[in-house]
Amino acid sequence: MGYRVVVAGATGNVGREMLNILAERQFPVDELAVLASRRSLGTEVSFGDKTLTTQDIDTFDFTGWDMALFAIGSDATKVYAPKAAAAGCVVIDNSSLYRYDPEIPLIVPECNPEAIHDYKNMNIIANPNCSTAQMVVALKPLHDRAKIKRVVVSTYQSVSGAGKEGMDELWDQTKAVYNPTTEVEPKKFQKQIAFNVIPQIDVFMEDGSTKEEWKMVVETKKIVDPSIKVTATCVRVPVFVGHSEAVNIEFEEFLDEDEARDILREAPGIMVIDKREAGGYVSPVECAGDFATFISRIRQDSTVENGINLWCVSDNLRKGAALNAVQIAELLGREVLKKG
Ligand SMILES: NC(=O)c1ccc[n+]([C@@H]2O[C@H](COP(=O)([O-])OP(=O)(O)OC[C@H]3O[C@@H](n4cnc5c(N)ncnc54)[C@H](OP(=O)(O)O)[C@@H]3O)[C@@H](O)[C@H]2O)c1
Repeated sequence: MGYRVVVAGATGNVGREMLNILAERQFPVDELAVLASRRSLGTEVSFGDKTLTTQDIDTFDFTGWDMALFAIGSDATKVYAPKAAAAGCVVIDNSSLYRYDPEIPLIVPECNPEAIHDYKNMNIIANPNCSTAQMVVALKPLHDRAKIKRVVVSTYQSVSGAGKEGMDELWDQTKAVYNPTTEVEPKKFQKQIAFNVIPQIDVFMEDGSTKEEWKMVVETKKIVDPSIKVTATCVRVPVFVGHSEAVNIEFEEFLDEDEARDILREAPGIMVIDKREAGGYVSPVECAGDFATFISRIRQDSTVENGINLWCVSDNLRKGAALNAVQIAELLGREVLKKG
């Protein structure tokens, strides 16, 4: 006996990836409903070798469904997640709506699986921001060994992090550069993204940081340890899939680079590719479609007392969103619902 599972936002970047990953990992699904807005009613999506037809979330009855993986943005989540939760269906949400609510667990299964039991507070579990998810998978095992004091991170985030419209904008602007008869004005991004980089993701906060940067700070504290200080600069780059991060970590205790490499090699969810030669590291194009978070360029930072630098790359639609949500579903099944 398996689960009755809902995927909401099944026509989007993250929703489609959720369907792929549920099929790839052979999640025990008895029945699957795929939802989107009324605009997409009847759209067909793939689940393994099956084709499913999208239903309108507005008229869907969540009663009797075990869990719903949501990827529909905060505004729609605010309307439909409480409805699903009240009907007894556990919501695993990808939007930022519930992440900072102290009643709602924010989970990366490699870091804080024990938080799963707090699902019962509201019948809702939050999935972190894509840039946080891949970073904390690397931070947690290092923190357990040498206690992290401070993290300085610069991100290089792909356009798929801004949904399917973000990918279209990069594609159309790139074509327009070669065919200057058409002009594609920035819509999803604040400036031209083709052949450019943009040091703004999400809106500005009062202190001059952006909301994406703020998310990395507060989510790392909630998932790993409130004592860790994080400062972030988040940058959008013209890459379709895969976020990269240059991470500088300062520890309370000394941690040798070779030991850090060994710890990361053994850590769940991580693949270390770190040859000190041309091309001996991972770039985002190589990580697209993969489950792992890749770590390269591990090296001592001798400018601080106990410092390590590393390069962290992952598929933002997978570990940054859909994979983490499916891992939470697996954890919920294993620890709480116990079917399948
Ligand atoms: N992309 C990432 O790397 C990433 C990472 C972490 C979290 N997230 C979060 O995941 C969510 C989805 O992101 P995405 O990248 O998949 O976006 P997307 O490609 O733009 O897809 C959005 C999905 O939401 C549906 N939707 C929009 N408004 C709706 C409404 N009012 N009612 C029902 N469904 C509605 C869309 O359905 P229609 O086709 O009917 O419009 C579509 O299926 C967002 O909350 C995002 O912040 C994304």
